[in-house]
Amino acid sequence: MIWTKKDLIAIKDLSVEEIQIILDTARAYKDLILRPIKKVPALRGRTVALFFLEPSTRTRISFELAAKRLSADVINMNPSTSSQTKGESLLDTARNLEALKINTIVMRHKHAGAAEILAKNLKASIINAGDGFHEHPTQSLLDLFTILENKKTLKGLNVTIVGDILHSRVARSNIWGLTKMGVHLTLCSAPSMLPKDIEKLGVKICYDLKKAIKNADVIQLLRIQFERDSGILFPSVKEYGNLYGLSAELLKQLNPQALIMHPGPINRGIEIASAVADGPQSLILDQVTNGLAVRMAILFLLSGIDEGEGMRK
Ligand code: CP
Repeated sequence: MIWTKKDLIAIKDLSVEEIQIILDTARAYKDLILRPIKKVPALRGRTVALFFLEPSTRTRISFELAAKRLSADVINMNPSTSSQTKGESLLDTARNLEALKINTIVMRHKHAGAAEILAKNLKASIINAGDGFHEHPTQSLLDLFTILENKKTLKGLNVTIVGDILHSRVARSNIWGLTKMGVHLTLCSAPSMLPKDIEKLGVKICYDLKKAIKNADVIQLLRIQFERDSGILFPSVKEYGNLYGLSAELLKQLNPQALIMHPGPINRGIEIASAVADGPQSLILDQVTNGLAVRMAILFLLSGIDEGEGMRK
């Protein structure tokens, strides 16, 4: 099977075969980024625009680095100095980027569906770097990649996601991604932080952290998204941390092979204790490294360049 899609908007839209192509391509790029010379000419002459209308550290920087490692030209757009502040619509801004012959637009936006609107109206490739509560597909792909680096297969693994699932685009992408790849997925949170009817997507719900993580091979923690309009849906942050935070004491009671993941940014002392975040079972910084390889793979695949060309020095 070869890659045919122009855009990457949602894990929901990807087949298992398409997910596998991205993971296989990322594996080759992971080898590349560990070499002394990390740059290839795969996207020479192409231009990638980064348009982040919400804050980001990991996703924006790793997309910029990924594009540069592939020799693309990179345009960083600052929303506060763009003509969006003068009333230009998102689509008109994007049409201007296309008029400048930009090949790929990587966009983060607070509204679900924003990336899809651009994908439907432009010839340029659109990559969704997070849209509201909807999806964050590249985060899910780097999570799948990281688990596979540490476990032989995803099929049959027990994974538990703990935290503010209601507001989390990472959780939504991972629900699609992990279940498509055959993972037994449990979601754990307070009832107020779980979307209604989410179990219809083939996941188990557990409100008790100890029970939810008892047999987990992988535990993914999520922060409370204080910046969202509905804010904290819990009596207090301290109480939330007591009930749903992963402490070093609790971790000691689990399978010592259980892996700890978090998409970042982490809120130490709330959803994760420092000893857990920095401990030997934590893959948090491996996730960041793998994000670079996965984003190189996605930029390369969406460019439509033949396989083989992308790895040539
Ligand atoms: N995981 C993630 O999306 O992090 P950033 O918000 O820093 O990009």
